[in-house]
Amino acid sequence: MSNQRPFRIILGITGGIAAYKSPDLVRRLRAEGAEVQVVMTPSGEKMVSPAVFQAVSGRAVRGDLWDAQAEDAMGHIELARWADLVLVAPATANIMAQIASGTASGLLTTLCLATKAPLLLAPAMNQAMWLHPATQANLQLLAERGVGFIGPADGEQACGEVGPGRMVEPQQIVAALSAELSGVSQCLAGLSILITAGPTREPIDPVRYVSNRSSGKMGFALAHAATAAGAKVKLVAGPVSLETPVNVERIDVESAEQMRDATLTCAPDADIYIGAAAIADYRPEFIPEQKIKKQADTMDVHMVKSVDVLAEVAALEDGPFTVGFAAETEKLEEYALAKLVRKNLDMIIANLVGTKLCFDCEDNSVLVLWQEGRKEYARMLKSELAARLLTTIAERYRVANP
Ligand code: CTP
Repeated sequence: MSNQRPFRIILGITGGIAAYKSPDLVRRLRAEGAEVQVVMTPSGEKMVSPAVFQAVSGRAVRGDLWDAQAEDAMGHIELARWADLVLVAPATANIMAQIASGTASGLLTTLCLATKAPLLLAPAMNQAMWLHPATQANLQLLAERGVGFIGPADGEQACGEVGPGRMVEPQQIVAALSAELSGVSQCLAGLSILITAGPTREPIDPVRYVSNRSSGKMGFALAHAATAAGAKVKLVAGPVSLETPVNVERIDVESAEQMRDATLTCAPDADIYIGAAAIADYRPEFIPEQKIKKQADTMDVHMVKSVDVLAEVAALEDGPFTVGFAAETEKLEEYALAKLVRKNLDMIIANLVGTKLCFDCEDNSVLVLWQEGRKEYARMLKSELAARLLTTIAERYRVANP
C-alpha cells in the first residue's frame, strides 16, 4: 500500500454453495494486509456460520440492517464510506438482480448502493442460471455501470452440471486484486489491450519443430497487471504451461503465422498492442507430410523469413499504440533504438538475454525507449515490473491520444 493504513474491503457473502470457500478468501486477503469486514445475507448465513467469518476476519460479522448495536458502532452509511472496495464472493444470480435493480432491502444491497468504492462481483451459480437471459442482461447492465466481475470460471459444478458459473478460486480472486492491494491505480480503465506472449513453434515435419526458450512469463504478467489496472485484455499465447490470468481472454496459437492471424484479427479493436511474444524470425520453407527419416549424417532445413507481426501492427492505419520488445545479447540501447525507428513503434522495452538472463526466470531488468525519452528499470519480479511498465505505457498512450 502506498498510503499508511491497510486496504479496507467489505466482503459480501451470499447464499451460493461456493460460500464454503470464502473463509479461505478472507484469510488470504488478510495475509495481503487488507482489513476485511464480512457482511452476510440471510441466505449466506445459512451456508456458513457467521462465527467462522468472525474468527477468520477478526471482526464481528454484519448482517442485519436493523441491528441497533452494530449500527451504533458503525452505521451502514459510515460502513459504506469506510470501504476501499466492496467485493461480493460468492455473488448469486439473486444478488446480481438486486444490485442491478437498485433495491436496498438488506444491509449488503444497501451498502452496494451507498458506497462510492469500486464494486466487484465473483459470480457463483448453476450454469443455466448464469446463461439465463435475465442474468446476462443484469451482467451487461452492471458492467455498463462500472461494476467489475471476477469470473465466473468454467467447470464441474456442485449440482453435477458442467459449464460457466463456478466461483473463481480464492487464490485467483486475491491475484486479481493484487493491484488494488498494492495500491496500483486503474491507469488503463476503459482501454482494450492486446498482448502476445510465449514462443512459437515452426514445424519441420509432423513431429518436429523449431522453437525458442521464451517462457511467456513476462507477457502473462503484463496481461494480469493490465486487467488489474482496469483494461480489457486479449492474450495471444504461444505454447506455454501458464494459467490464464483471471478475466483475460486467451487465444492459443502455435506457429508465427497463426500468431500473426490471431493478432491482426484483434489489433484493429485494440487501443494498445504489446508484442511480448518471441515470434520465430525464420520458419522451414517446406514441411513434408510425413516424418523425415534418419538416413544421412547431416540434415539441412531450409528456412525462410517469417512475418514480422510487430511491424505489421505498427503499420496499420489507425492501429493501436504499439509497444515492442527487443531481446538483445549486446549493444542493448543502440539495437533497441534502431528497432524502434525501423519498425515505427511508439515504444520499445529492451532487455538483455543470454543463458542466465531473462528467459524462464522470475525477474527481469529492462530499458524502455520512445522517441523523446527513456526509462530504466532495475531487476525486479516480472509481476512488479509488469505493473510499472503499464504505468509508463499508460502515460505515453495518454500523451499520444490526448
Ligand atoms: N516480433 C514479431 N514478429 C516476428 C519477430 C519478432 O512481431 N516475426 C516482435 C516481438 O514480439 C518483439 C520484437 O519483435 O516485440 C522484437 O523481437 P526481436 O527478436 O528482439 O527482434 P527482431 O525484430 O526479430 O530482430 P533481431 O532478431 O534482428 O534482433
